[in-house]
Amino acid sequence: MNIYFGASGFAKEIEWLADVLYKKKEIDYKPDFYVTSDADNSVCNFINGIKIITESCFFEKYSSDAHNYFICVGDSSLKKNIVHKIKNSTNLCSFPSMVHPDVSFDSREGMVSIGEGVFICSKTVMTTNILIEDFVHINISCTVGHDCQLGRYSTVNPNVSISGNVCLEESVYIGTGAVILQGLSVCSGSVIGAGAVVTKSVSEIGTYVGAPARRMVRM
Ligand SMILES: CC(C)(COP(=O)(O)OP(=O)(O)OC[C@H]1O[C@@H](n2cnc3c(N)ncnc32)[C@H](O)[C@@H]1OP(=O)(O)O)[C@@H](O)C(=O)NCCC(=O)NCCS
Repeated sequence: MNIYFGASGFAKEIEWLADVLYKKKEIDYKPDFYVTSDADNSVCNFINGIKIITESCFFEKYSSDAHNYFICVGDSSLKKNIVHKIKNSTNLCSFPSMVHPDVSFDSREGMVSIGEGVFICSKTVMTTNILIEDFVHINISCTVGHDCQLGRYSTVNPNVSISGNVCLEESVYIGTGAVILQGLSVCSGSVIGAGAVVTKSVSEIGTYVGAPARRMVRM
């Protein structure tokens, strides 16, 4: 079965991506059901006619069978926790990646490498010599320049522009419309706010906003 973790708007968008792949390439990653946290009582029981079950119900009843898993949550640390929970509960798990057919990138052998559990959404353009590690999400209309490395569990929201030679370490979260200038690195666990322009490498974990991006100090 195809199991989607997450029952938010992003999960709906990934279901749409699966539908596009099904129609264009006959790859069937359409969800059999969605899994949400036990604490989430705000959701309805179905998304577009597909059932939502809680995490405890899933791990009790279904996790011992072989499934394809799709982790449809943007929050990097939550994404990592879910993957660890699944991998600790079963060896029979696979995490297919989905790349929208209109994404353009250097498709020659070895030029762009894409790990497991990756989603790359419509209208994104990536160039060449790029490494996209496991469980990275790249949302709609992003650009990723040459020689970039996007670390495991990182999330890149819509309209983000990542220039050449950028390194995002593990679990970096980049808000909508942010810009990362060339040659910079962003350390593990950092959050870049929507619309920020990162002009210097981020070496201390934190949330960075504005243009140029500065660390957010909470009072
Ligand atoms: C940066 C961010 C993570 C901060 O979230 P937060 O910790 O909940 O912060 P708050 O909303 O409490 O805001 C705190 C202050 O920072 C300001 N602020 C928040 N986000 C900002 C941003 N992106 N740029 C500049 N200032 C920002 C707020 O106006 C507020 O200022 P104030 O104290 O003077 O009123 C968040 O606002 C953000 O940009 N997230 C990205 C969301 C996104 O891209 N989602 C995509 C979904 S597809």
